[in-house]
Amino acid sequence: MRKISIAIDGFSSTGKSTLARQLARELGYVYIDSGAMYRAITLYALRNGLIGPGGLDREALLEHLPQLEPGFALNPESGRSEITLNGENVEAEIRTLEVSRHVSEVSTLGPVREKLVALQRSLSKDGGVVMDGRDIGTVVMPHAELKLFMTASPEIRASRRYKELLDRGEDVHYEEVLKNVRHRDYLDSHRDISPLRKAADAVEFDNSDMGLKEQFERILAHSRNIIEKK
Ligand code: DC
Repeated sequence: MRKISIAIDGFSSTGKSTLARQLARELGYVYIDSGAMYRAITLYALRNGLIGPGGLDREALLEHLPQLEPGFALNPESGRSEITLNGENVEAEIRTLEVSRHVSEVSTLGPVREKLVALQRSLSKDGGVVMDGRDIGTVVMPHAELKLFMTASPEIRASRRYKELLDRGEDVHYEEVLKNVRHRDYLDSHRDISPLRKAADAVEFDNSDMGLKEQFERILAHSRNIIEKK
């Protein structure tokens, strides 16, 4: 049976990566977390003092960009494919609120997007992938056989994110997380290059009131339908 490509786009904290991982595991496909790549570049900028009180030093980041190589490697401990930057596993470091605060700005930079989109396309060229992000169905894999667009209310998404951050031991307030969710929604959908928008042929899923299990089963059945028709 031919393998298809599945593009999952949507606002932050809509459960895209959980769904993408589940689908990839069930179908025997590769999961590619495109947001992790933007986060890895942001982490680099933070670690190297390119983001200070005056904001992001865009020129300096673009100078360093050719030397930055994000990738994925299997972590034998977690059994998951995790993000690396120049060979270093940075999966844990990229999930902080500090990285979330700056990643939308980093992801507005044209050369950063060009580099990461090229990498995402090469990783997905043979199909058999589930990729999640903001521009996957519109720019990275416009030919994907299945495109999903995930939404949920900002309050529900913030409370999911808040719990995740608390579980990871971060000292955060719900209001602060909600503010970050709303701010990123705005930046992600209003930037000039490849803003977040639903592809014309994407199926929209609002999971504000839907359990993860139900959502997964519905989408898996839908994916299998498409695969069988190939
Ligand atoms: O999915 P995430 O929250 O880890 O993504 C982090 C940020 O990266 C998000 O706020 C916008 C950006 N991003 C993007 O611009 N394009 C993508 N394909 C994926 C993420």
